[in-house]
Amino acid sequence: MDPKRRAGEEAVKWVEDGMLVGLGTGSTAYWAIMDIGRRVKEGLKITAVPTSIRSEELAISLGIRLVTLDSIQPDGIDLTIDGADEADGDLNLIKGGGGALLREKIIAAHSKRLVIVADASKAVETLGRFPLPVEIVPFGSKLTMGRLEALGGHPALRLNENGEPYVTDNGNYIADCRFGVIDDAAALETTLNLVPGVVENGLFVGMAERIVICDENGAVSVRERGGQG
Ligand code: A5P
Repeated sequence: MDPKRRAGEEAVKWVEDGMLVGLGTGSTAYWAIMDIGRRVKEGLKITAVPTSIRSEELAISLGIRLVTLDSIQPDGIDLTIDGADEADGDLNLIKGGGGALLREKIIAAHSKRLVIVADASKAVETLGRFPLPVEIVPFGSKLTMGRLEALGGHPALRLNENGEPYVTDNGNYIADCRFGVIDDAAALETTLNLVPGVVENGLFVGMAERIVICDENGAVSVRERGGQG
């Protein structure tokens, strides 16, 4: 079985009746949502909040009951299952390869538990090989990219298949940055968000509770932050 599918489905075993579930975005979270949909058809009773329009449409097509973020309590999401582009040993993450980092971080910030699902290629010693997505507002985007350059990020504006700027679900652009090895993810996360024009960046520090990894032979391992899992 596809490792992404195996990892995605494995995490769904923590979804229980009555939960409010955060639905991640990307090709691994896709399989978790598909499996949640299957269990909903079998009688699982949950509500959910999606992290992107794509995941929202998928959830609706599967009959998963969605609620709006305005109707939920702060920190009221029981469990979010999402993917990642990189995860280090402390379960700090780079996310946003799929462009959904802002909604993903808002949902993660209000989740009691954030479970990451990934194939083995996402596990790294130190973050930074994958370009760090930074969501920026279109207004003054060149100037904002100049600031990101000055910080050593070598930003590249993400383009869509027509060669135009890729536009996020929130109407913003994404600058994919190459900082090289990121030794202090917490400091960089904060520094980036202080740049005027930056909305959010794809560093998720101290947010993930555990990661479910499946290797190419189908072997699944679970790692918890600060422990062995
Ligand atoms: C979406 O914006 C991302 O944060 C994804 O969660 C991340 O890119 C992982 O995607 P895949 O599971 O498709 O690799």
